[in-house]
Amino acid sequence: MDKMEKDPVTSNEAIKRADYAREKGEVVLRTHEYDGIQEFDQKLPNWWLFTLWGAIAAFFIYYTLYYTLDLLPSSKAQMDAKVEQIEAVRKKALEETLAKLDDSVLVNEWSTNSEIVASGKGIYTQMCAACHGADLAANGGTTGRALNDGEWFYGGKPMDVFKIINEGTPAGSNGLNGLKMVAWGKSGLTPKQVAEVTAYLIDENPKDFAEYKK
Ligand code: HEC
Repeated sequence: MDKMEKDPVTSNEAIKRADYAREKGEVVLRTHEYDGIQEFDQKLPNWWLFTLWGAIAAFFIYYTLYYTLDLLPSSKAQMDAKVEQIEAVRKKALEETLAKLDDSVLVNEWSTNSEIVASGKGIYTQMCAACHGADLAANGGTTGRALNDGEWFYGGKPMDVFKIINEGTPAGSNGLNGLKMVAWGKSGLTPKQVAEVTAYLIDENPKDFAEYKK
C-alpha cells in the first residue's frame, strides 16, 4: 500500500486503488485536483440510482403510452373533452330555458318582473350600451341598430329579439354595413341572462310588444 501511493499514478493503477479502497469501505478520491479541490469517486447509493433509472424508464413508458400508442388521453384530448362537457351543459341550460320560453312568457312573465328587468338592465349597461347606447339609440345607428326606433330588423316577435341576441348576426347576413352582432349566448351570457336582457328591451319598448300582452 505504501509503495503504491508513492508510484506515479497511471489510470489503471488509480482504478485498482479505488477498487481496493472501496472494498475496505474507504472514501475514494479521484486523482485529479483543481485549485485544491478534489472529487469523490463513490458508487451512488441504490435508492438514488433507483430514482434516476426510474425517472428515465417512466419517461419512455409515458412517451409510448401517450404519444406513440395513443393509449392514454393527451392533455389536449383531456381539454377537448372538458370543453365538450361544458358545451353540453350550456346546450342543456339553453334547452331548459327555451322549453319554458315563448313570446307570451317573455312579455307577460319576464318583462313584468321588476327584478328580471333590473337584472337585464344591468347586463345591458355592462355589455351592450357601448354599441347600442345607454339611451338605446345606438349613437345614431353608427355602432349598431337602434333598439328604441320601433324597428326590429331580424323580426319583431319577442323570441326573434331573444334569438338575435343569443345567436348574433345570422350566417350569410352582412350585418349592419358589415358590422355584426356577437352571439352573446356563446360569449359571456347564459340563456337566462339573454332572456333577462330581452325582457329589459321589451320593457323599454312596450308599444312594440303590446299585441302579446295578456
Ligand atoms: C360591438 C358592438 C355591439 C355590442 C357590444 C352589442 N351589439 Fe347588438 N348589434 C350590433 C350590431 C352591429 C347589430 C346589427 C347586426 C346586424 O344587423 O346583423 C346589432 C343588432 C342587435 C339587435 C337587433 C336589432 C334589430 O333591429 O333587429 C339586438 C336586439 C341587439 N343587437 C341587442 C344587443 C344586446 C342585448 C347586446 C348586449 C348583450 C348587444 N346587442 C351588444 C352591435 C353590438
